[in-house]
Amino acid sequence: MKAFTRRNLLKTGLLAPAVAAAHGMNPLEAGLSATSETAGPLSTTNAAAPTELAGGQRERMLLDFGWRFHLGNANDPEKDFGFGSGRAGNFQKTGNFLPAGSMGFDDSDWKPVDLPHDWAIELEFKNDPALMSKGYYPLGRNYPETSVGWYRRAFELDAADDGKRITLEFDGAYRETLVVFNGFYIGRHSGGYDPFSFDVSDFANPGGRNVLLVRVDATSSDGWFYEGAGLYRHVWLVKTHPVHVKKWGTFVKSELKPGTAALAIQTELANSSPVAASARVVSTVLDPDGKAVGKAVTATVEMSPVGEAACQQQIPVSSPRLWSLEERNLYTLVSEVRVGGEVVDRYQTRFGIRSIKMDPSQGLLLNGKPVKVRGTCNHQDHAGVGAALPDAVQYYRVRKLQEMGCNSLRTSHNPPTPELLNACDELGMLVFDETRMMSSNPEGLSQFEDLVRRDRNHPSVFMWSMGNEEGTANIDKGKKILTAMKAVATLHDGSRPVSIAPTGAIGTGGLEVCDVVGYNYMDPGAEDFHKAHPDRPVIGTETVSAVCTRGIYITDPDKGYVSSYDPYTTTGRASAEGWWRFCDARPWLAGGFIWTGFDYRGEPSPNPWPNIGSQYGVIDMCGFPKDTFFYYRSWWTAQPVLHLFPHWNWPGMEGKLIAVWVHSNMDKVELLVNGQSLGTKEMKKDQHLAWNVPYAPGVIEARGYKDGKLAQTVRRETTGSAAALAAAVDRAEIAADGEDVAMVAVEVRDAQNRLLPNTDNTVTFRVTGAGKLIGVGNGDPTDHAPDKGSSRKAFSGLCMALIQSTKEGGSITVEASSPGLTPASVTIAARTVKLRPQVAPWERKPPAGGGISGLWRPQEGAATQIFTLVEDGGKLSGTAEGVSGGWAGGADPAIPLTDATIDGNQVSFKVANMAFTGKVNGDRIELARTFNFPPRKSFPIPPSDEPKPAIGPAPDGSDPSFTPGRRPMAPVAVVLLRAQR
Ligand code: GAL
Repeated sequence: MKAFTRRNLLKTGLLAPAVAAAHGMNPLEAGLSATSETAGPLSTTNAAAPTELAGGQRERMLLDFGWRFHLGNANDPEKDFGFGSGRAGNFQKTGNFLPAGSMGFDDSDWKPVDLPHDWAIELEFKNDPALMSKGYYPLGRNYPETSVGWYRRAFELDAADDGKRITLEFDGAYRETLVVFNGFYIGRHSGGYDPFSFDVSDFANPGGRNVLLVRVDATSSDGWFYEGAGLYRHVWLVKTHPVHVKKWGTFVKSELKPGTAALAIQTELANSSPVAASARVVSTVLDPDGKAVGKAVTATVEMSPVGEAACQQQIPVSSPRLWSLEERNLYTLVSEVRVGGEVVDRYQTRFGIRSIKMDPSQGLLLNGKPVKVRGTCNHQDHAGVGAALPDAVQYYRVRKLQEMGCNSLRTSHNPPTPELLNACDELGMLVFDETRMMSSNPEGLSQFEDLVRRDRNHPSVFMWSMGNEEGTANIDKGKKILTAMKAVATLHDGSRPVSIAPTGAIGTGGLEVCDVVGYNYMDPGAEDFHKAHPDRPVIGTETVSAVCTRGIYITDPDKGYVSSYDPYTTTGRASAEGWWRFCDARPWLAGGFIWTGFDYRGEPSPNPWPNIGSQYGVIDMCGFPKDTFFYYRSWWTAQPVLHLFPHWNWPGMEGKLIAVWVHSNMDKVELLVNGQSLGTKEMKKDQHLAWNVPYAPGVIEARGYKDGKLAQTVRRETTGSAAALAAAVDRAEIAADGEDVAMVAVEVRDAQNRLLPNTDNTVTFRVTGAGKLIGVGNGDPTDHAPDKGSSRKAFSGLCMALIQSTKEGGSITVEASSPGLTPASVTIAARTVKLRPQVAPWERKPPAGGGISGLWRPQEGAATQIFTLVEDGGKLSGTAEGVSGGWAGGADPAIPLTDATIDGNQVSFKVANMAFTGKVNGDRIELARTFNFPPRKSFPIPPSDEPKPAIGPAPDGSDPSFTPGRRPMAPVAVVLLRAQR
């Protein structure tokens, strides 16, 4: 075991708990602590995330802010904005796909939302066993009214964008997405986790307004776990020159040689123009300080019209600063595309220089050194926000996992959001990157290909997962599928091993294809496999599956709670200690991924309703650690750990035996009960200590000894009743970018400032200043209160609020109050930052002016028509939108009014071929509309002297069914009412 230095202590903030322990508290347990890595998500503030910085004609802009949202209906077209009604939302013609896709569409009853957004978390729970996997949120065919969501967003494009390629990039949406741009149907995407994009250049209005409409249908599902619903990841607008680096078109492979790294760089170019193009690529490598350390220029690359090309370059980097878990050195490749001397594109790729090897006897070698994989599997949802995690929450989660010593994460069972990988690159966490479904059908292969191409430059990613627990993988068919998938990984990467998390088999059948032999839960089988195949690297792709509820020590299936001691596992799998003792003792075993780091919604385990979530986490849904967290922390970190449980509030249990456990990595631990020593026990590697203690109110105390000296003391005291709240925040300063998030934890304490371990007081949060409350949670998997409320019950004494900055710098105050208790508050500084490039929302605003100046919409029908009227003295001017009935194609442009007059209450104006005339009547403008179509021309009928028969066609060929010219249409009444947008 490593020595504990003062630096260690300072680094982890553990000095505070050591002091606090004297008072019988442990702020770390309370989830109020933060590690030294308290910076926010670097990529949302100042450091460059891959391809975010741009140049030449490339702009990559966030399209997250200023959306409007409305639920649709999966069964009823009338409630689904006409989609599938037969009249609209059909695929007959280009343009005018749906009324809601038009610029003038009235979305005033759509709710303003910012992305990432998950509407599922806002739904009420339904006790329907069919909804178990979804965490009892009403999604699916039986819940059409809550399974479809619509998003609208308007924005302007510069006139200078004409000729550029305009692409919409979605980092992922749940689950079937249909995109309409400026009224044109653009495309569909099926799949809840993989990124997708559409080039919408031909449908854009450079120099004008544009409107994006997205229908997201979450009816079907992939997972047996909660998956969210809607645009729950970022959306981007990307502008490029027609000749540009392809999306994910760069790849830097590094080979380490003594004193140098040989970088093999591949750059793929696209020419989206209809003429041939030639270009050169200038690749510059910047070191972690931003200093250029290598450069190469290609020969001229020729591309045919709408063609592509790829080029290879070699750049040596001497004395490379390697990426490792301790030193996260990140290099940047700047790829400039030059056409005729002009830099038309500048694309940035962040990468790390490091070597990985999976060795059959030493496990993972990172830069040649063995690193035991101390991994956790994780789903992607979090308290307060569902699946829509602001980037800062990804960083928070990675830091929490690191606090317990976790060094690897498996993105079970789907491609992660890119920001999670950025967090892992920056904070030093290895990633086993998983595709959603093992399949070689076109969808499966393209999802896997996108995963590999998107993620191949992340140094944190050390292995690809081709799926999870697919029985087919064990048979011949699986061999064919996995062979096809592996070929994709080899083609687009080739530098990392592939594996799969299997079920019921180890390395047999189709699993032979894997470079690394994974196994789920079969520890004894793995041992046998290793003996029979000592030449094959082995890793525990999924292990443990122990369940427990934070702060609970009596299992109660009716309530859905499971005791927090370690031996509670599902289906006889290993306990935390069972797993780690097995794993730690076997150097050939590369390590493994426990199920799971965090609790998650859905897959309620081990009990169904009222339990709505899984209790596999070592950390609850908020980030509050459970007791087992300290087991792992003891043996996965070099930090001093002394953790004593359970709490000591057991009224009515006097004289009964209570198991008192200690997780620690001290040499020896002594337990005292009400001042009396129960003896000192030696702490054995990878184990815990336990005493059976007859309960008497008072205090239990653990004393941890290191090198013969008392190093730490921790107490649990029988507390008084609730008296006060205490609050703390994970980061005292966040970026004022409208995205960053601070996690505010609240404890309920007694009059002596001791955490009350079993109370459920309701805490109300009030946020003032430069921030907003975006969600609340308490880690109780049976709590059915909404995560989007402003108050929450404490659970085992704790609850949490997620506070997001606005785009204004300043200070944020979060007050927590509870009836009868002394309130608590925290202040967070919101630091003014340069916002990352983003697309400003376009909002329709009523024009200034007197009289009838303003926005007007027809009282009935025509939800796409809007009149912008400006009255100035006796003059009237303005525009009308949506009046062409779609003949204009796509989003109807604004047509100026002509011959507009206002005289007293008499109004008249013309729009295109329509004339409106009538009067102002209070808040109504009552008009009659007439059409003034010019007479249609017909062919002249030649004169004829032939007599016209009584029955039969006229000899001159005239057609009695045809009326030359058009009958004048009767005037139609149109009542306009004032509108806000
Ligand atoms: C595994 C599965 C996980 C989760 C876990 C629960 O078999 O891969 O997704 O369901 O069981 O124990």
